[in-house]
Amino acid sequence: MIKITSEKNEVSLVAEMIKESEYLVVFTGAGISTESGLADFRGKNGLWTRRDKGLPPPKSKHFDEVEPNPAHLALVELQNQGRMKFLISQNVDNLHLQSGIKLNQISELHGNYKLVKCLKCDSRFSRDEVGWIRDIHGRGSRKEPPQSNQPICKKCQGRLISSVVDFNDPMPEKEVELAKYHSLECDLMIVVGSSLSVFPAANYPKLAKDNGAKLIIINTDPTRLDHLADLHIREKAGEFLLKLIKELEKRLKS
Ligand code: APR
Repeated sequence: MIKITSEKNEVSLVAEMIKESEYLVVFTGAGISTESGLADFRGKNGLWTRRDKGLPPPKSKHFDEVEPNPAHLALVELQNQGRMKFLISQNVDNLHLQSGIKLNQISELHGNYKLVKCLKCDSRFSRDEVGWIRDIHGRGSRKEPPQSNQPICKKCQGRLISSVVDFNDPMPEKEVELAKYHSLECDLMIVVGSSLSVFPAANYPKLAKDNGAKLIIINTDPTRLDHLADLHIREKAGEFLLKLIKELEKRLKS
């Protein structure tokens, strides 16, 4: 772990590491969306944290009500500057795509609440595209029996289900393959807002590190992989990433 002397150094150190990197991959979890108003799972006020204390669920906006926050927008900036080569996310809230991350630059490991997928040909469609209305057609979980009124795949007439991966569901093959490829290609991985407690997703930062990449974790609380991190920034993602983008711009001008 690199010794930090002051907060300012953290920003300039991460900026330096990004400038030296040739293949930056970012890995995100629910913590990147809390500043948009969504609850996370294992943070101090998270869904599972409160459940385990016998408390009611935390206050949280619905996916349809929230907007990308400065942390999401900072990643779009890193993408548009050609610095971030790929984004691996555990989030299903669609905020990365909504913020401007390109479809071919992201692997949504746990799916996306706006998308359904075909069990036969694995095609993806937005719920709007196929006219899937949750109140009429249900959530579309693969564990529920198909309803006769549910839309079918436009390409192969196969059964459509929600793309969201529930516990014990199989992981999406294409997304897993892309996540593994880019984790092995990267020379720097930055984890933003994940407790790194859920596998196989949490394997990717370890895979990158074991393969020689540097690992930076931006997370307000401890994570399962802190012992592997070269740097752990204990700050809110939105605040830190905003400072980071400003620092990178400053270096561009100097
Ligand atoms: N800035 C930085 N870190 C934050 C912020 C923030 N604004 N808000 C919360 N965090 C931290 C929390 O302290 C926590 O450690 O982000 C982390 C989020 O961890 P989790 O809630 O465990 O979310 P995640 O790692 O994405 O969970 C993985 O678990 O329940 C499943 O399928 C679900 O995809 C999810 C998976």
